[in-house]
Order: sequence, then C-alpha cells, then structure tokens
Amino acid sequence: MSCREDLNWPLMRNNIQQTDVDALVNFLQPEVPILTQASQVEAFEQEWSRWLGVEHSVFVNSGSSANLLTITALKETYGTGEIIVPTLTWVSDIASVIQCGFNPVFVDINRRTLGMDTEQALRKITPQTKAVFLTHVLGYNALDANFLAELKRRGVGLIEDVCESYGATFQGQKLGTFGLMSNFSFYYAHHMSTIEGGMICTNEPQLYETVRMLRSHGMVREAKSGDLKNSYCRSHPDLNPDFIFAFPGYNVRSTEINAVIGRSQLKRLDDNNKLRTENLRLFLDHLDSDKYQTDFAVGGSCNYALTLVLKEANPAFCERVMSTLRRLGVEFRRGTSGGGNQLRQPYAKRLLGETEFEKYPAVNHVHFYGFYIGNYPGLEKEKILQLCKALNALPMSEGTHG
Ligand SMILES: Cc1ncc(COP(=O)(O)O)c(C=O)c1O
Repeated sequence: MSCREDLNWPLMRNNIQQTDVDALVNFLQPEVPILTQASQVEAFEQEWSRWLGVEHSVFVNSGSSANLLTITALKETYGTGEIIVPTLTWVSDIASVIQCGFNPVFVDINRRTLGMDTEQALRKITPQTKAVFLTHVLGYNALDANFLAELKRRGVGLIEDVCESYGATFQGQKLGTFGLMSNFSFYYAHHMSTIEGGMICTNEPQLYETVRMLRSHGMVREAKSGDLKNSYCRSHPDLNPDFIFAFPGYNVRSTEINAVIGRSQLKRLDDNNKLRTENLRLFLDHLDSDKYQTDFAVGGSCNYALTLVLKEANPAFCERVMSTLRRLGVEFRRGTSGGGNQLRQPYAKRLLGETEFEKYPAVNHVHFYGFYIGNYPGLEKEKILQLCKALNALPMSEGTHG
C-alpha cells in the first residue's frame, strides 16, 4: 500500500444530517417558539421510552449528567455504601460515584465483552453494596444470565450505562431495560446525537420522580405525580408550593432545540445501527486472528466503533499498528473506552493508591494494546477491507513477514 494512500476515516462522520437541521428550521419558523425545556423534550422522552421499552425517560444535557443524577437518586433513595464499578468505563461513571459519597469497588474486565468481569463483580458484593454500575463498552453486551440471576437473588440493584451501546441486546431484549436505571449519551461521537445530551431510563415510578426533581434544582413542582406534590405541600405549609426543594439538586436540563434534533435522529437509529453491525462483522471477519482479537462477544452487539485489540502484549508491533493507522488517515483512540484503566488516572491514584491499577491484568492489556476506530453508517465496506489488509500485512516481529 503506498504511503500516499489516505482512507480519510474519522471517528465519526455526518452524525447530524441535513434532515435534522431541516427539522430544527421548521420548528423555529412559526413565531418564536419556546426554547427551554417544554413539549419537545417531553415528546422526545416518550418516543425514547417507546423505542427502548421502558416506562419512563428523563432527558438531560449530557451522558455525564445522566450518570450524576442516577447515582444521586440512588443515594437519596437507599443511602450511601459501596458501588461496584468497572475499570474500563468513562470517567463520569466513577466521578458520580465518588461525588455522591459512595466507595467505588473496582473489578477487572472480561476481554470478550470489554465489560466488567461479572464473576469477579459477584465475588466483590458485600453487605455494604448498594448497586452494581455496569458499562456496556463500545456496543458489546456485558450481561449474562447467571449474573442477572445472582443479583436478583442477593437483592443488589443493577444500573446499566448504555452510553456506548444503545440498540444492543441481550437475549433479544434491549440493553438499558434490565436494571433499576439506565443511562444514555447523545454526544456527537455516539450512535445518535442531540449535539450534547443524555437520558435516564427506569421502570420505577419513585426513582423517575426523584430524577425529574434532581434535574431541576430538586424542585417538587417538577414531579409528575399530583399526590407527591400535594404531600410535600401539606408537610411544608410555610413554603411557597412553587419553591419547595426536596433535594439539593442540579440544573442539568436540556433544551427544545436538542430534543427536536433527537426526535429527528431517532427515526433513523435502527437503520443506522444495522449498517454499523454489518461493518463490525466485516472488520472482525477479515482481521488476522493470530495477530488481533476477533472473538468479541458480538451476539446482539451494536457498535459505533470498531474494536482493534492486539492478541499479544507486543510494544514494537503496537507501534507498527499505530503508525499504519496514522499513515492511512484512520483516526483512533488508544485504550478504548475512556482511555483504558481508570485506576491509572491521577484522581483514582489519589483515592486508591499508586499501585492499585496493577491488580487488573485484563484491562491493563486493553489499556496499552486496545484501540477503537470510527464505525459510522456511511463507512465504505471497501475501506474496511483495505484497512484489514494493511493491518494483517504487518509483521509481529522485526524481519519477519505476515
Ligand atoms: C460509557 C460512558 N458513560 C458516560 C459518558 C458521558 O457521556 P457525555 O459525553 O454525553 O457526557 C460517556 C461518554 O462518552 C461514555 O462513553
């Protein structure tokens, strides 16, 4: 392959399209519409709930805000304690746990799902465990039947972070419908985008009301239930009913603009996800399985990124892979989700010590030898095959070929 060849392959392309802009322009045309959170947000929440198959959804301004409100609602409902978290996730999953006063208990990953090692997670449950906060990494389902059954038997709540995996399923059921609450992100690089945005989903009416209030300063008037609002008013006759703050909340609302874009995007999410799934299968089917991991848990997966993980810890080969990606104009991220092992980050070292990260070998491999590459609906199949050919041609050791 010549040095001049450029596949011009970014992490994401055209995630917001002309149809979304047209929908927004149409919305803005008549008079001056309400732009702060109102009926468009409500409609997007209902459509999202229907698409996912849950009772309630709450739209917020980012996936990180979804994480924060979810863990805050957990604290307000069940009190603090330990939360079991993965070592491979986004920083806000861990930050929300710490900021809410829980102790994060880390577990290593399963190399096939990139999600938490569910057997290790079960072994780390103690009487202080308040929940398991699991991340479905880069489109792969991290759940298994034994894990779900054991959590149920032991009365431990599950929270699913589906920010990187929406549309993916386990046993035919959409991820984000298995636990107490689930979180989604609509950041530009994800399966769909509202510019910035996030969603919290649940079937639990009380958690739903709590999250709604937390989204808007903790204000009781944000609750849906008339009974709930009346009971606060009756218990606090000295307060103006418009200004009763049930919780020390936040303002993480989104706007009508973001919701209009989300509603437009949702219409093509399933079709886009089919194309993404085909792309991932093509990529993994054509990679050399002696050099690269190809045995990912693809059943039910739905990935906005192609995962490239080297089979062996081989720094020189890894350098060759990275320089090939750069030469071909293929944007990539090393470490996969969130840059790899969270325990190597300065904030985690301050909390848990300088050497805690060493105890997690599976994530440490992905930290140095795992990458993700963009997988968007318009990605040309020919480019995927070209890239596989170039990667497969790289020698694992100097002086050898193939
Ligand atoms: C697993 C996971 N959780 C949470 C987030 C946070 O989402 P946002 O970027 O919308 O704040 C991300 C972001 O990429 C993520 O990958």
